[in-house]
Formats: sequence, C-alpha cells, structure tokens
Amino acid sequence: MYVCLCHGISDKKLRKLAIEEGVSDIKHVRKVTPLGSQCGKCIRSAREILEEEITNT
Ligand code: FES
Repeated sequence: MYVCLCHGISDKKLRKLAIEEGVSDIKHVRKVTPLGSQCGKCIRSAREILEEEITNT
C-alpha cells in the first residue's frame, strides 16, 4: 500500500527503513526520503506506521 502517493513511498519501504536503518520518526524519514514534501497528507499515516513498527520490534 502506498503511504505517500505523491512520491510513491509504500508502507513496506517505511517499515524497511525503520527495521534496517533505525528510522524512528518523521523528521528522520524526511531526511532520507521526500515523503510529505508535496501535499503533506501522508505524514499522519506515515507516523502511525512507524510507531506501529517500533512497538512491534
Ligand atoms: Fe505524501 Fe502527498 S502523499 S506528499
């Protein structure tokens, strides 16, 4: 599923970043991807996915 439609970033990609690169918050995601830099609608769901991934590990 795409989280960020503007930049084609999927939940899989976010989970992978969290697991493999320790990306744990939106600030960090935005440093390594363009997520949220266009319409910004994806930020909330991206945050939820990251939180879910972090609490599950
Ligand atoms: Fe992510 Fe628009 S959906 S910036």
